[in-house]
Amino acid sequence: MKIPPVSRAKEAAGRAAAELVRDGMTVGLGTGSTVHFTLERLAERMRTEKLALRGVPTSLDTERKARALGIPLVGLELVESIDLTLDGADEIDANFDMIKGGGGALLREKVVASLSRREVIVVDSSKVVERLGVRFALPVEVVPFARAAVSRRIAALGATWTVRMRDGREPALTDNGNEILDCRFAGGIACAAALERELDQIPGVVESGLFIGLAHVLLVGSDDGRVQTRER
Ligand code: 5RP
Repeated sequence: MKIPPVSRAKEAAGRAAAELVRDGMTVGLGTGSTVHFTLERLAERMRTEKLALRGVPTSLDTERKARALGIPLVGLELVESIDLTLDGADEIDANFDMIKGGGGALLREKVVASLSRREVIVVDSSKVVERLGVRFALPVEVVPFARAAVSRRIAALGATWTVRMRDGREPALTDNGNEILDCRFAGGIACAAALERELDQIPGVVESGLFIGLAHVLLVGSDDGRVQTRER
């Protein structure tokens, strides 16, 4: 089967991230199609190099995939800090500020990122942007009870929003039983840090997909299979 070039870029970045894991590390396991390649490469390294690690999954999807690949997992009740987290992003700018949550895992991803000594982000080059929110809508996780109230406050911030749906029929629920509002700001997001603070103050908002100051390293995969490493 011919692999589309975008997948080749994701595969290159995803596999390169797995090379950063050292024996004995506690590793945050991100969510998404790029990290899928990271998980596969980690499992390979466990088999061929006898690499030992403990994974902290950021979603039920990643938990299932990691278990199927034989990657040992540990919960946050046993982990105070994480050596290295490998995760994807929907958009990332020159300051390494990001929009995440395309896969709906933003809350657990942010908790795991906040506990991580080093957060490595794996993307294909289409995700690197000058300004966040021009192309990708910002996901905001909300408690279902508060959806109407939160959406009015978000509209007052100048955004339009849609409720993320499952099969077009009912709201998609996150792993935490919440809903997602995908929010669009005309011209993109002018100040991501200020917007994150404003969103955090709205009662009923559980978390926004703005990740500010959490990423340390960026691996950008290209269609030709090369991977560029950038440090913050
Ligand atoms: C999930 C995320 C993902 O990391 C993000 O959506 C990138 O996914 P992909 O690697 O499939 O493009 O934030 O909540």
